[in-house]
Amino acid sequence: MPTPGPPAPRTSASARAAVLSGLGTSLPPRVVTNDELAQRLDTSHDWIIERTGIARRRVAAPGTTTAALATAAGRAALASAGRSSCETVIVATTTPDRSCPATAPSVATALGLTGAAAFDVSAVCSGFVYALSVASSMIVAGLCGSVLVIGAELYSAIVDPDDRSTAIIFGDGAGAVLLERGERSAPGAVLHHDLGSDGEGRDLITVPPGERFLRMRGREVYVRAVPTMTASARRVAEAAGWRPGEIDGFVGHQANLRILQSVAKRLELPDERVIANIAEVGNTAAASIPLALASAAGQGRLARGDRLVLTAFGGGLTWGSTALLWSGARPVHQEVEPLS
Ligand code: UT7
Repeated sequence: MPTPGPPAPRTSASARAAVLSGLGTSLPPRVVTNDELAQRLDTSHDWIIERTGIARRRVAAPGTTTAALATAAGRAALASAGRSSCETVIVATTTPDRSCPATAPSVATALGLTGAAAFDVSAVCSGFVYALSVASSMIVAGLCGSVLVIGAELYSAIVDPDDRSTAIIFGDGAGAVLLERGERSAPGAVLHHDLGSDGEGRDLITVPPGERFLRMRGREVYVRAVPTMTASARRVAEAAGWRPGEIDGFVGHQANLRILQSVAKRLELPDERVIANIAEVGNTAAASIPLALASAAGQGRLARGDRLVLTAFGGGLTWGSTALLWSGARPVHQEVEPLS
């Protein structure tokens, strides 16, 4: 007879929560500066930094896949949590390696997790927040005990290198968190979600049917992003019982530093509570929130128990927010590895 393990925690469904236990990232090594872009595009470092806050971004080498980036970030998140396995893998991406099948099963197998539930979430820049809500709901419903949520993007595959309005903005990379079953009062607890969409705006950020490259009507996206992100962040904070001013860290999708600052101003948050790493990695769509979280955690800017609001806005149009208590997870970074 096998020795029985420890009894399962007696957590009631109402007190049960998904708790963030690990945080991992992966970035391709090649750095592309604004000056490098200005050598071949009609733009300048000054224009890019003033209008977007971006100084440099990472671009993957030819042959790198979204699955390879996702696998490296997923492996790093598991290592951060001190785990070697999990029950479900969700990949949020705008740039899957194939339109069919999804990327997540390849990632799960590359992580040695064949047999795990694995699927993709497609919500463009809001993909990570959407995937977090699915993962956390699966845990709260008792469907599984652990979910790896990965945001991974290879925008270099869909950005037109000759389009100065998008080539200066987007970068490649991946970030991941491990969620595990725990209690709502625990540091790391994911507390509330707010999700929305407006398909009338589908042409504002799109790869038009039959075309290869992404097209974005940036100014129109910008003017919608600020009020929509502000309202979503307010709703999720209110659901968590926090006044906007009580948010310790606002982790917005890193699309444009001016958008983050405008939203923070409307929420009456001082600049030091705005988490931003856009200068270093640009806009990495579904990967941007976990990359920003890892950057802040790595710099010691987040304290265990901090009230965090994650808010995204992007193609679809889609938007969403998550309220969570910071866990104190130490981020792990892993170089991207080729898939065998
Ligand atoms: O991640 C998904 C969500 N995406 C977003 O949230 C993106 C939101 N949008 C933005 O971040 C900004 O709209 C951009 C950074 C994309 C553009 O900044 P902007 O301040 O809105 O500029 P604009 O598009 O209104 O263009 C202003 C001028 C135009 O010239 P004219 O017509 O005034 O002569 C553009 O042609 O700047 C010109 N321009 C550039 N100039 C130098 C556009 N791109 C560039 C460039 N370098 N790269």
